Amino acid sequence: MSDLAEYDNANLEVNDGVAQEVHCIKDIDSATDFELKHTPCIEVANQEAGRLVKVSIGLKNIAHPQTEEHLIEWIRVFVGGELASDVHFGPTDKPELELVVDNSDAQIVAQALCNLHGLWEARA
Ligand SMILES: [Fe+2]
Repeated sequence: MSDLAEYDNANLEVNDGVAQEVHCIKDIDSATDFELKHTPCIEVANQEAGRLVKVSIGLKNIAHPQTEEHLIEWIRVFVGGELASDVHFGPTDKPELELVVDNSDAQIVAQALCNLHGLWEARA
């Protein structure tokens, strides 16, 4: 189990009383629409001041619902294994965020929690 998974399982245990599996697409070309609409989309643009990171939910323009009954509750971004952003969303919010991180080659990991379908992760 990775440190990231331990981090999230620990938090979910506090919040929900359950540990959850982290879902991660292995091959985007064979992914289902269900998988595509839950997976964080990470866009990185190199700038002088740092890497501009934009995270939204859904790949190949397949949008996830954002309603009272079914929504993305939060997105977290880790840079080099450290938590860099943690944003929570309600049913009227668009589940996306932006941040600027250092210009190192540290890996960027985004995780998103769907209230019905669990925890989803992507790496850039
Ligand atoms: Fe969902």
